[in-house]
Amino acid sequence: MEIRTLGVVGAGQMGSGIAQVAAASGLSVVMNDIKDEYLDRGFSSIEKSLGRMAEKGRISGADQKAILGRIEGSITLKDMAKTDFVVEAATEREDLKKKIFRDLDEFCKEGVILSSNTSSISITRIAAVTKRPGKVIGMHFMNPVPMMKLVEVIKGLATSEETFEVTRDLALRLGKTPVPAGDFPGFIANRILMPMINEAIYALFESVGTAEDIDEVMKLGMNHPMGPLRLADLIGLDTCLAIMDVLHAGLGDDKYRPCPLLKKYVDAGWLGRKTGRGFYVY
Ligand code: CAA
Repeated sequence: MEIRTLGVVGAGQMGSGIAQVAAASGLSVVMNDIKDEYLDRGFSSIEKSLGRMAEKGRISGADQKAILGRIEGSITLKDMAKTDFVVEAATEREDLKKKIFRDLDEFCKEGVILSSNTSSISITRIAAVTKRPGKVIGMHFMNPVPMMKLVEVIKGLATSEETFEVTRDLALRLGKTPVPAGDFPGFIANRILMPMINEAIYALFESVGTAEDIDEVMKLGMNHPMGPLRLADLIGLDTCLAIMDVLHAGLGDDKYRPCPLLKKYVDAGWLGRKTGRGFYVY
């Protein structure tokens, strides 16, 4: 099936970023969320990102308009019936993703691939709630989506080779570099990144260093573009905790135990940049 219209479920920082890069590559996009308010937030984050690119002269004012014009907002999942490929980028909760996939399976045309931008949840388990497990796959983008080249492509146990190839080609069309990863908790990226971030939070918890000093060490000593605590704030501390919980439960090793300080911050609603406070104040 030729992919002309991409469906994106979730207009948060990942979903809106995916909608933006898809529209920038010439695809029509239907961006869905449950409330107009969430869609408005998604569109304003796309406008902000395109504005930054225009300021740097990477795109013109006309490109900016054309890209936005290719994205249609939707607050009913039934609109996914119009699309030729779906990327789900809802909150990182397995029960929610399963509900969305059951509904997508019902509403989407036969043959449409249903992908999930999950950062850690089993693709095999998500696929198993649909009647098209061969057409369910993981397509894991990195944050901020417009800037980051990587897309992990994850086959579930039943995912067909054809589904993998179509997904890999789509990632290339979006200007990304697809890398295959196995369907184990956290895949490759978060299996390695999240324990590092969790360890940085333990270092803060045990007063090994201040947030600024921990980040400075990793920036200057390891050449990371940003320190792990600032990166955790960018990703969202609720997402970091959800991923650590998946690693801990799925791999059953206490080395993946989420740091109590991370839990406390999430309990307080200090979720990072998106709430104005995390390890730093924004
Ligand atoms: N949209 C458009 N442009 C953007 C942008 C966005 N959202 N974010 C940054 N930019 C542009 C800036 O305008 C700037 O452009 P110029 O080079 O032309 O000046 C450039 O990117 C660099 O930005 P900054 O100067 O503001 O800051 P920076 O040099 O630190 O770069 C960054 C920002 C790209 C985010 C960089 O800090 C970085 O790579 N950080 C690490 C990000 C990372 O590790 N992401 C993965 C997170 S893990 C994940 O996503 C997976 C998961 O499941 C949790």
